[in-house]
Amino acid sequence: MNILVINGPNLNLLGIRQPEIYGKETLEELMMWLENSTESAKHNFKFYQSNHEGEIIDILHDERHWANGILINAGAYSHYSYAIRDAILAVNISTVEIHLSDIQKRENFRKKSVISDVCCDTINGLGKNSYLEGLKILLEKNQHG
Ligand code: DQA
Repeated sequence: MNILVINGPNLNLLGIRQPEIYGKETLEELMMWLENSTESAKHNFKFYQSNHEGEIIDILHDERHWANGILINAGAYSHYSYAIRDAILAVNISTVEIHLSDIQKRENFRKKSVISDVCCDTINGLGKNSYLEGLKILLEKNQHG
């Protein structure tokens, strides 16, 4: 499969940013760990991080002919970006919503995601394993339709 991995705002600061919530590893370490996992073998990956809503939308548009599965951690945009939600719908590619932390157990504003119902699943609260579980869902879905 061709898997597009998009990380949204502030995720470039992983390792420094609230390590008690997001862990001590950097985004680069997390993404290398994901790409080197047994599950990832034989699949192709493209990794993006952006702090800008429009750029995330452009990435979804530009990679839509390449990708056949998407993992997106849209960060805080998950809670209010109807534009990213529309873009996920528009590209019509199986997408799993990812969060490192358990968004149900934090502030109230994080409990609502406006992208979850346009994604085939949401994985949160597992730290870096959220990405791996999300990947497994995409691979499974691709095999069994
Ligand atoms: C996050 C959760 C969001 O609420 C937050 O704004 C983030 C990270 C997570 O991975 O747990 O930036 O998406």
